[in-house]
Amino acid sequence: MVVLNPGPIEVGGIRLKNHLILAAGILGSTGASLARILRYGAGGVVTKSIGPAPMVGHPGPCLVVLEDGIINAMGLPNPSAAFMEELNVLQGEPVIASIFGGTPEEFRTVAGWFTGRVSGIELNLSCPHAEGYGAAIGSNPDLVEECTRAVASPGVPTWVKLTPNVTDITEIGLAAERGGADAIVAINTLKAMRISTSLRRPVLGNRYGGLSGRAIFPVAVRCVYDLYEACSIPIIGCGGVSTADNVIEMMMAGASAVEIGSAVIHDTRIFASIAGDLYSSDGLDAREVVGCAHV
Ligand SMILES: Cc1cc2nc3c(=O)[nH]c(=O)nc-3n(C[C@H](O)[C@H](O)[C@H](O)COP(=O)(O)O)c2cc1C
Repeated sequence: MVVLNPGPIEVGGIRLKNHLILAAGILGSTGASLARILRYGAGGVVTKSIGPAPMVGHPGPCLVVLEDGIINAMGLPNPSAAFMEELNVLQGEPVIASIFGGTPEEFRTVAGWFTGRVSGIELNLSCPHAEGYGAAIGSNPDLVEECTRAVASPGVPTWVKLTPNVTDITEIGLAAERGGADAIVAINTLKAMRISTSLRRPVLGNRYGGLSGRAIFPVAVRCVYDLYEACSIPIIGCGGVSTADNVIEMMMAGASAVEIGSAVIHDTRIFASIAGDLYSSDGLDAREVVGCAHV
């Protein structure tokens, strides 16, 4: 397997301890859990998505656990501005605040709370199960450009997280780039559902949700590959990554770093175990690997 040189990196204006980042929404609701994931070897962490007002989320059941993935319909539960105090234990650490809003103004307001207190902002323009938020905005290139522009400004590294639930993800990536994004994160979950055959009803309280985990890895690789062909800003690959070889494959498709979510639910120490396989002092410079599958 291809291995990489260890050491800190910089992606989309943010300095990270390594290429492996905790994805939004998994163990990201408290400062203590984010600090723990950093201690366990993550190069950076993304918070749970925070919005302009507190939300309780969807009624349960909110998760369906499958053999190769998870369908979640959390509905963006979050404490809004009250989350800020969680950052006190994370000063100076590579923390990226995931934010959402229903309008460019709401994005600007929430980003303002975090500015100067985190390493960067990730715009959630991709949650597939929250009406008026996430993918509802993230599938419209004009709105993506406007929301990105409302947040991106010099000194505020801005990443935009994309939904795969569109016909052409490169149109959305290019819109984020026009809006001033420093990097693109691809992908959020794929819209999905299961039905209980005994109850004759959808399993999730919200009926449908978003599929994540190993099952979506090939979709994520394809999205990263397409975005790398179309866009010039860095890409952070996300979706189904669970091994060092998956990290290398994402990088060959064009990712400069990766985010890991569902695999952390099964093993909170996965960052250290992937890093153990991924890095070696005689490894390659990542620049030789990123995008090398493109001819
Ligand atoms: C339980 C759960 C909650 C999530 N919450 C968020 C969230 O708040 N904001 C967001 O942008 N993505 C959220 N996601 C999506 C993940 O960040 C990630 O994009 C997706 O799960 C694909 O990566 P994975 O296969 O490594 O999990 C959530 C995913 C799961 C499973």
